[in-house]
Order: sequence, then C-alpha cells, then structure tokens
Amino acid sequence: MKQINIGLIGAGIVGGGVVKNLTRNSDLIAERLGIRLNLKWVCDKDESKTKGLPVPASVITPDAQRVLGDPDTHVIIELVGGTGFAKTVILDALSRGKVVVTANKALLAHHGEEIFAAATKHNTNIFYEASVCGGIPIIKALREGFVANHFPLIYGIVNGTCNYILSRMTAEGKDFNDVLAEAQKLGYAEADPTLDIEGGDSAHKATILASLAHGFWTGYDNTYVEGIKHVSQFDIQIARELGYTIKLLAIIKGGDAQPVEVRVHPTLIPHSHVLASVNGVFNAVAVRGDVVGDTMFYGRGAGADATSSAVISDLADAALNYKFGSIQRVPAFVAHRLNARLRTIDEVESRYYLRLTVADESGVIAKVATVLAEAGISIASVLQREAPEPKAPNSVPLIFMLHTAKDAAVRSAVEKIDRLPVIKQKTVVIRVESFE
Ligand code: HSE
Repeated sequence: MKQINIGLIGAGIVGGGVVKNLTRNSDLIAERLGIRLNLKWVCDKDESKTKGLPVPASVITPDAQRVLGDPDTHVIIELVGGTGFAKTVILDALSRGKVVVTANKALLAHHGEEIFAAATKHNTNIFYEASVCGGIPIIKALREGFVANHFPLIYGIVNGTCNYILSRMTAEGKDFNDVLAEAQKLGYAEADPTLDIEGGDSAHKATILASLAHGFWTGYDNTYVEGIKHVSQFDIQIARELGYTIKLLAIIKGGDAQPVEVRVHPTLIPHSHVLASVNGVFNAVAVRGDVVGDTMFYGRGAGADATSSAVISDLADAALNYKFGSIQRVPAFVAHRLNARLRTIDEVESRYYLRLTVADESGVIAKVATVLAEAGISIASVLQREAPEPKAPNSVPLIFMLHTAKDAAVRSAVEKIDRLPVIKQKTVVIRVESFE
C-alpha cells in the first residue's frame, strides 16, 4: 500500500495522543483511506515527552530542523503551541511545500491571514480541525458539509474549562474562586487559567470560525471578549429564578448582506435551550445555515484522545489529497468575501440583564426607569428582592430585564445609572439571548 510520511513536532499531551491513536488504529485508518499514515518522525526537545511513546527509537529526535529538512516527509504536524517557534515551524514547512496540520488556535487567530497566504504561495495546504472544539468536526462541517450555505448564526460553548466552572457553580451553589481552585486541583483548569477564564481561548476559536464561515479574516482584535470572572453565584441564582442559565458563549451573527459580529461573553439563555443542558467540560456549537437550517454539534473540546481524533482526520485529508495528486483539493481557507464589513460591539443588538445594588428607599425604580426611558430602552420586567444580597448587606438588589437594545445605548445608560446617589455598587450587565 502507498504511504505518506508524517513528522510530528511537539509531543505534549495532544502529540502523545496522536502517536498512541495513530499506532492503535493504524490498520483501520489505512483500510479506510487506501494509503498508510507513516509516522516517520516524532520530535520534541524535551526527551521526557518522547520517552515511552509506542514508536521505534529511530523515529524520535529532539531536532525540528532534521524533520523539516527531510525531503521524504510530506506532512508536518505542529503541536508546539504558542505563537513563537510554532509559527517558525509552520512557515518553514509551508515554504518547503509540505502540508501542515495544526491545533494552534492562538497562532491562527492572530496570524491566520499570513499563514494561509504562505500555504497558497507555496502551492500547499494547512489543516486545522483540532484548533476549534477538539474532537468536534466543526471546521470540516463549515468548509465542506455546509458548503451550500450562508451562515447567519453560529453560536456555542467552545471552552470546556469555563463550562466546567459555570456548570459546577450552577449545580452546587459554589463561588467562582472555590470552583476554579478545585478545577485546578483536578486538572480541569490550567495552573495559569487566564486564557480560558478571561475568554481569550474562546475568542481565538470564534475568530477562526467567523473567518472560515464568512470568507474573510475577521481578526482577533475585532472579536469582543468578556470572560467569566465577574459571574457571581448571586447572578446565577437570580437568572435561575427568571428561567435562565448562564453560559460563556461565542456568538457569530450576520453575513451575506449584513455586517458580521463576533463576540464572546457570559450569556443568559433560557433553561429550555439545548445549550443550557451542555454541562461539565463538554463543548457544543450550533450552526444555522440558510439552506440546511439549524444544526448542533456536541463533544469534547479538549484532551489527548478527542483532539488527536481531529488531528488524524486532517492527516486523512492530507493523505487522500496526496494519493490523488491534488494537494489543494479542498483549500484550507478561501477568502471569498473580502469586501465584508464587521459590526462593532457598539452596534450589536441584544437583550440585557441588569442587576443594580440600590438603597432601599422610595423613588429608586422611577429614577432608573427614567434614565432607561431617556435612552429609548424598553424594560421587559423588574424584580426587586426584599432581602439584601449577602455581599451588599445595606442595600437591595434590583433586576431589570431589558428588551432588545443597542449595546452602546445600554452601556451609556448604565454609566448614568451608576452615577445616581441611590446606586451602591457597580451594576452587573449580562447579555440575554434565546436564538429563536
Ligand atoms: N483550554 C481549552 C478548554 C481547550 O478548556 O476548552 C483548548 O482550547
């Protein structure tokens, strides 16, 4: 049987999973493809990472240049991570006409345009299924399965760490910091969880999905990001009373004749929405196509096995293209809509949950309602709790649910509200979506 030679650079958790699963299912994959995936090199400068992997010692090297410089290695898997050496590896491999497979969301979100241009320039290709939602084949779905569609709406839970934390806060009534500490102990959150909990990881994935779906590089810096650090147990409880669950969502709306908005933030969604039942480390992405209608993808967004499943699917594509002599059969990214516009967060329209902390005295609701009315913002419902929030004992919580309004208008109204003497703490603002 014909074979394709592969060099893996970066033998960490995912790299180890790729080696294990490629070895374990090697015959099955070869039978399905009619070409064998031959792992010719496994490279990591840290020998403790490659020790014990189920490959002959002759396959292992600490020298990335040896792998990149091997003319018989056709595909490079980059699993180094980060935006430094990983970028050098990818650009070097592409410049030699090799096909690249990567899981590197940060690199693509920040430098995707340059990297895809390099692939095109050197008549080669780059695959990145594992960069978004681990084992869920969302890239292939958007690129191929849904090729007939415009995508007016894509949204979902794309970060397992945040979903794990919010799920446990919701189920167990615990505070953010306590659940984060436990998640770190159990290995569900990184020692430095910043990228996950501040929303950066979700924004990387949203940027890649938006760019692929809409045919132009939307750019990481144009993705609006809010993380989950400010989501309190109290807001989770109030949201529950009102019929909502709080999830960190990536939301991509617009396209076709409309500007495209790309945002990541905590969101109140109705309990009845299927995403409200996606708990723990699981990811789920909903895609609405103008032809296919509503679809939903669910699975593990991280971990050695789930992510290596995606890496191996990319290897399969690269191998089939090689077998049939058509390296660019399905281009990794096609910039088909270069004149598209982005919608800034100021112009985004949403519904809102506002939690005010107010002095319990007459006329407070009227004062707040006046500010909202002057801004042309319509109130959907008001809830006042008799008992104070535990963390603000001398005041009471006052919750306003707003009808759809522009983000800039709501933020400016909240600034005015927070200047009223009756307001005792900064108002909490969380967007509300039902995706009907
Ligand atoms: N840290 C990510 C998560 C996985 O928690 O989902 C890699 O993007």
